[in-house]
Amino acid sequence: MRVVRTIDALQEAKKNLFGSIGFVPTMGALHKGHLSLIQQAKKENKHVIVSVFVNPTQFLEGEDLESYPRKEEADRKICELAGVDILFMPSADQMYEKDELSIGAPAVRGYILEGEKRPGHFDGMLQVVMKLLNLSGAKKAYFGKKDAQQLALIMQMVKNYFMDIQIIPCDIVRDENGLALSSRNIYLSEEEKCRALSLSKSLKRATKCIMSGELDAEIVKSKMLEVLKEADAVEYVAIVDRKFNGLKKIEIGNTIILVAARIGKPRLIDNIWV
Ligand code: PAJ
Repeated sequence: MRVVRTIDALQEAKKNLFGSIGFVPTMGALHKGHLSLIQQAKKENKHVIVSVFVNPTQFLEGEDLESYPRKEEADRKICELAGVDILFMPSADQMYEKDELSIGAPAVRGYILEGEKRPGHFDGMLQVVMKLLNLSGAKKAYFGKKDAQQLALIMQMVKNYFMDIQIIPCDIVRDENGLALSSRNIYLSEEEKCRALSLSKSLKRATKCIMSGELDAEIVKSKMLEVLKEADAVEYVAIVDRKFNGLKKIEIGNTIILVAARIGKPRLIDNIWV
């Protein structure tokens, strides 16, 4: 595995890859969720490139940019063991110059839910993902359904800008109790981890409700909120279609149910695709 830290070194290392490239962009502190993306990329491509870059432009003022977990050595080992060909770990000045042109999230779907709670977050996220996708030279890039709105916006960007890359959505990986894995889970105390389970429990409740024939979005949401009372810090519960348009009636095969809550320090998000 080659570890490269500059754009030039990345381009040089890519010259040794012959055949299809799958790309997995991350912010590091890799866990089994990231690993599942890497494994899927391994299966479907001859070569795999992973990036680890804590992208400053997607953090808002007062968010955890400085304290975001950084585990370079462990990340390197995980990638090595997973059979990654190139690990790209650039610095911010490799990725950005002053007075850049900008790319913005769409005015509606980029500013609801996560975009409303974190205005501007998706602008920075799309800006760096556009750069990383272009740099990777990959024909397929792998993203988790865990960040469902992020995934939908990246798919929209690829479509709107006619980018020649396929975005592959990957299933959410959870721990044995149902908590969706996240690099930010390390901020949680044991007591908070227990409270955090109410997110996935509320989604299970929604599934049960739907399986019993209930398709009214408001009723399903109210059932979820009963469970979420435990968390005591719900930010939103939402039911949207796969393109993030609000839904009154659940459409089987085209619905995402999302929940966000602040548990202790971190904001946690989770969802299910129905
Ligand atoms: P990060 O939070 O490191 O996540 C990298 C990728 O891993 C994303 O596609 C995310 O959805 C996926 N992922 C995280 N937890 C997961 C889980 N439990 N199961 C499955 N997939 C999971 O998302 C980002 O970084 C950044 O915004 C990035 C796209 C790299 C741009 O900076």
